[in-house]
Parts: sequence; structure tokens; C-alpha cells
Amino acid sequence: MGESVHDGWYSSTHTHGGKRDPTAVIGHAPEHRDWKPGDPAIHPQIDSTARIEAFVTIDAGMQHATHVGARAWLMKHVHVGHDATVGDDCELAPGVVVCGHATLEAGVRMGVNSCVLPYRTIGKGARIGSGAVVTKNVPAGEVWVGNPAAPIQRHAEDRIRAISS
Ligand SMILES: CC(C)(COP(=O)(O)OP(=O)(O)OC[C@H]1O[C@@H](n2cnc3c(N)ncnc32)[C@H](O)[C@@H]1OP(=O)(O)O)[C@@H](O)C(=O)NCCC(=O)NCCS
Repeated sequence: MGESVHDGWYSSTHTHGGKRDPTAVIGHAPEHRDWKPGDPAIHPQIDSTARIEAFVTIDAGMQHATHVGARAWLMKHVHVGHDATVGDDCELAPGVVVCGHATLEAGVRMGVNSCVLPYRTIGKGARIGSGAVVTKNVPAGEVWVGNPAAPIQRHAEDRIRAISS
């Protein structure tokens, strides 16, 4: 277990500081019934500090660029649909699906295999439990779990303060 071997392995795979794993697929055509070849497909805007792990897919937008903000961390197998927004400092665990036109405000964390349906907004600093299906807008700072997801506690103030500072 030589340390140099370990270091070498990480150097080819880590995403710290804003890297994209080569297996990520960025800018495929919008997955929408109305979209057809020749229609607008606006390339995603991804902040250079965002971490994009293996097998992440981020689709092109139909109306505006799909957006991934600064220091956002998209772990393995995350999918971000067309025209969605992932705000600064969001953390999306493996298998998260952000459907088309959904918005995650800054500092949202979503647990493994959770999803948010199209056009919903998850407010600043909110947390979504693993496996949750978010069918409604989630207010800032709340913690929602389950299918359909519902709030389990309210502790918005501390988290919002932390994100704002
Ligand atoms: C199931 C579905 C078709 C129902 O749509 P709808 O009839 O407009 O339903 P509403 O959003 O009005 O919600 C009705 C109720 O069902 C619940 N609900 C909606 N979708 C749900 C889902 N996927 N899982 C669990 N509950 C769901 C809502 O929370 C709501 O509950 P309430 O009456 O207690 O408030 C839709 O919510 C859905 O899941 N569509 C698939 C989206 C998708 O995967 N699109 C792919 C493109 S990215």
C-alpha cells in the first residue's frame, strides 16, 4: 500500500477545485416531447468551480441554458434536465434527478436517489432526504423527506444565515 500509488490514482479522478469527469455528458438534446432536431438546444452554463463526477448528465436548454452554479457538487449518476438551475454550493448525491425547469436555490442538498419534478423550486439551504420525490415547492431551509416529500422539521434560520455569510 505505497502512498505514491494512492496519490496517483486520485490524481486522475478527483474533481476538487472544479473538474469534470471525462464520462460526464454535457449538452445532450433536451428530453422533451416537443423538441426536435433543428430546434434551439442551448449549451449548459456550468461554473468553472463546479464538481462534475462520473456519469453525470446535464442536458441542453430549450428556452435558456441549463445552469450549474459555483462550487456545486454533482456526484455520480446525477441527471440535470433541460432548463433546470442548480444554484451555488448545492450538493447532489448519487442518483439525484433534477427534472426540466426545476430550480435549486443556493446551498440545497439532495440525498441519494431523490428527485424534484419539473418546474418546482427548492429554496435556499433546504435539504431533501434520500429517496424523496419532491412534488411541491420547498421553502428555504426546510428538510423534506418521503414520497411525496413533506417537511419533517423547520430550522431555516441557521442554515440561511450560514449561506448568507
Ligand atoms: C404523477 C403526475 C403525472 C401527477 O401530476 P398531477 O396530476 O399534475 O399531480 P399534482 O402535481 O397536481 O399532485 C397531485 C397529488 O399527487 C402527489 N404527487 C404528484 N406526483 C407524485 C409523484 N410522482 N409521487 C408521489 N406523489 C405525487 C402530489 O404531492 C399531490 O398530493 P396532494 O394532493 O396530497 O397535495 C406527476 O406529478 C408526475 O410525477 N409526472 C412525471 C414527471 C416526470 O418524470 N417528467 C419527466 C420529465 S423530466
